[in-house]
Amino acid sequence: MNRPRDEKEFNFTRQHFDKLRQLANNYSGITVTDEKFEMYYSRLTRRLRKHNLTDFGAYVALVEQDAIEFKEFINCITTNVTSFNREQHHFEYLQKVLETWPKKEINIWSAGCSSGEEPYSIIINSFPICDRRGIKINITATDLDTDVLEKGAKGVYPVRSVEIYDMKIKRQFFQKGTGSNTELCRVKQPFRQMIDFQQLNLMHNWKLNQKYDVIFCRNVLIYFDNPKKTRLARMYWEHLQDDGILFLGHSETLHKISEDFDSVGKTIYRKRG
Ligand SMILES: C[S@@+](CC[C@H](N)C(=O)[O-])C[C@H]1O[C@@H](n2cnc3c(N)ncnc32)[C@H](O)[C@@H]1O
Repeated sequence: MNRPRDEKEFNFTRQHFDKLRQLANNYSGITVTDEKFEMYYSRLTRRLRKHNLTDFGAYVALVEQDAIEFKEFINCITTNVTSFNREQHHFEYLQKVLETWPKKEINIWSAGCSSGEEPYSIIINSFPICDRRGIKINITATDLDTDVLEKGAKGVYPVRSVEIYDMKIKRQFFQKGTGSNTELCRVKQPFRQMIDFQQLNLMHNWKLNQKYDVIFCRNVLIYFDNPKKTRLARMYWEHLQDDGILFLGHSETLHKISEDFDSVGKTIYRKRG
């Protein structure tokens, strides 16, 4: 039966929204503004259909009781926008650092890596220098959302998403799909192996058992309030080697958030001793 244009398939009230955004905030730290009401509705309706639920009240109850559905709920509401070579100037800065890098390996953490374009961009931009200078690249890539982590580990992307790269780079790093996969390409295995994808909730009390030379945490802080940003900046400070570098997203800053870092470029910070 066709519904009138404005009539929704499911009744979604302000109370449902408030309850769901509270659950999301408690777990992920993501601040969900009122404008996200429609986004929540449109992203979550497929979960109601999947469980043959007829109303959002039943969905809220399910999310509260069922750990698997809670994970699906979180995967639905995260914003995973990303792309290859996003904020190119960070990769150029990293290339300059690598040209004089004194050690035989470099450990990099991509925190909030989404579907992998960020850590693969790090490799694509760094490998030629590291290969020439005999530096091993190790990348840890973490996110809250298990769906995007799975995509990252597979390393399969639409061909159009790597059009920014010239043919030489595409040949070196990607394998083109065949048959029904001609619109797809896959990061070649030796490069996939350089990245360890892991789930990590930045809001939890994590402690990683290593320190990093470089941390990328780009376009993630924007979702958190200031106390959470301050706490996270402190955690990054603790997980960086002396003089380690922290890259933030284009609209993010440590101004009034942390005094533990020196600004060394546009959204680029260096750990203060
Ligand atoms: C907009 S994407 C940024 C992706 C990439 N860093 C970039 O700049 O292109 C933000 C990512 O942060 C992740 N995220 C949000 N809250 C998180 C949390 N509490 N712990 C870990 N990751 C989180 C989301 O799942 C999402 O993939």
